Amino acid sequence: MTCCRQCEGLENLFNSKVAREDLDAYRKRGVTGTTRALLDQLRAAGVQDMSLLDIGGGVGAIQHELFKSGIGSSLAVDASSAYLAAAKSEAVRQGYADRAEYRFGDFVQIAPELEPHDIVTLDRVICCFPDMPNMVSLSAARAKRLYGVVYPQDGWWLRGAQHIAGAALALVRSKYRFYIHSTREIDALIQAEGLRPRFHTRAGLVWQVSVYARE
Ligand SMILES: C[S@@+](CC[C@H](N)C(=O)[O-])C[C@H]1O[C@@H](n2cnc3c(N)ncnc32)[C@H](O)[C@@H]1O
Repeated sequence: MTCCRQCEGLENLFNSKVAREDLDAYRKRGVTGTTRALLDQLRAAGVQDMSLLDIGGGVGAIQHELFKSGIGSSLAVDASSAYLAAAKSEAVRQGYADRAEYRFGDFVQIAPELEPHDIVTLDRVICCFPDMPNMVSLSAARAKRLYGVVYPQDGWWLRGAQHIAGAALALVRSKYRFYIHSTREIDALIQAEGLRPRFHTRAGLVWQVSVYARE
């Protein structure tokens, strides 16, 4: 499957209705679960005045919360134009839009044009993309200080679910697929870019949260 096909699937799946619902949920409940765990670890490492590159940030929960914690600027890159519009409208509502930038598109395609940022985050993004090696290496290379990721564990139960979901998505002619990539390979690619593990936890049977720091 090509990245173009998957990006078309992402734009269709994460449409304006989904974005509106996700933004409503964020406004009502704030951040929960693994996103909260990731934010707690980033704040513990120190984020004051830092720049953030948030890849696949959806409605921008990480951006909104880290601005409250003192980051200086953010760049959001997302393959869903509806999510970017929702993130932008919330930035205006929260009063930091003048320090936030947005780029629509496939991160892997536009990465060569992007400057390194102090913090790079990918919250439940790696599982939405087939070309994991490039997504991980290109993003890790752009993290000057901290790199935070939330992605699925790679147990047999999730690999099974990936195949069943793939068949179901094909039946409804969706171009979107989700991917269970190898945890060992992801960790090796991140460390190959000079980042070292600072925090790791598993949440239930599905997700895991990792934070790396540049030495
Ligand atoms: C499951 S959603 C997660 C959204 C948000 N981070 C959250 O946890 O609620 C996956 C996000 O990754 C984005 N995404 C996936 N692959 C991407 C790529 N190659 N470039 C840019 N964004 C991508 C999707 O458009 C979507 O916003």
